[in-house]
This record gives sequence, C-alpha cells and structure tokens, in this order.
Amino acid sequence: MEALHIIGEEHQSLAAILHAIRFMLKEVAAGKLAADLKLFQAMVHYLDAYAEKRHHPKEDLLFHRLPQRTADGAEALAKLGLQHAAAPQRMAALEQALAAYVADNSRFDNFARAFETYAEFYREHMMLEEDVVLPLLRKHLTADDWTELDAAFRAEMADKSGKDGKAEDFSALFSRLVDCAPAPIGFGPRPFAN
Ligand SMILES: [Fe+2]
Ligand SMILES: [Fe+2]
Repeated sequence: MEALHIIGEEHQSLAAILHAIRFMLKEVAAGKLAADLKLFQAMVHYLDAYAEKRHHPKEDLLFHRLPQRTADGAEALAKLGLQHAAAPQRMAALEQALAAYVADNSRFDNFARAFETYAEFYREHMMLEEDVVLPLLRKHLTADDWTELDAAFRAEMADKSGKDGKAEDFSALFSRLVDCAPAPIGFGPRPFAN
C-alpha cells in the first residue's frame, strides 16, 4: 500500500501550500506583509503542475481499480472523476485571477476570492478522497492489486523525480516555496527567485 502512503504525503504537501497562500493573502490584506508575486506565481504553478497534473492521474490509477472489486463508493468516484477532469477550467480561473492581479494591484481582492474558491474546493475534494475512497481501497483491493499499483507509483515517481533533469523537481520546489513563505508557515518571508 505504498501508493496510499504517497497519496497521503502528497495531500499533506498540497494542504501546506494551500494553507501558506491563504495565510499570506490574509497578511497582505491586513497590511502586515508585502505581496511576493513571484512566490504566489510559483505556488500556483506547483498547484497546477503537481496537484492537478501529477497527483490526480496517480489517484485515477487507484480509483479505476475500485469498481472492479466493489460497487461501494460509486457515487464518490463519479464525483471525483468529474472533479479531476475539470482541472483545466479550475486552474484557468485561478491563473487568470493571478495574472490580472500581477498586472494591476487593485485586483488583489479578486485574486484572494478566486484563491479562496480554489482552496475550499480542494479541501472538500481531499476530504471526500480521504473519508470515503481511500478507506474503501484499503478494504477491497487485493494484495496483487497493491503489488501492481505500488510498482506503477514507484515507476511514476522515479521517471519524473526531476533528479535527472528530465522533469521538474517538485520536492526541491516545495522546499524552496516553504523557505520563502513567512513564519510560522515557512522560514521566510524571503523573496522567491526563479
Ligand atoms: Fe484528487
Ligand atoms: Fe487527492
């Protein structure tokens, strides 16, 4: 069940980034923090390139196995499937709001609202996965399923680790994001540089 462990760790990293952005937006709104636009852009990029494009496809590998083992969770799976498929629209809304804010400071509130919508969506999405689907996977998938799925996850992680320069190194990016986020979330504030 290494695959489940990887999904759990990714949820923690994603929750940390969502929490960091939410915290910074509040601090900026309160006049306690100068907005670091490059850091916001890098965090939104992380959400797109990791959460939406690497995390969900791995989950789909797991989720597609469940209906082969049980009819339980069908409604949740259908909902999650639609939500995974809607990633491009969801990201476009967030990216447009951020681009508008980068171009024009007065669009801060609009970006903060768009982010709040995204974060709230994502929180509920992860809760549905963790409360309903992951326990069903744990209960119904067979040992052979796990051997196969764990191997697929390991291969995905190794292929796209970024350590060989062929893919983006998201664990390094995550550390850099946390380094720049203000305390108590991260170790900054420190300006984020590409
Ligand atoms: Fe998901
Ligand atoms: Fe997830």
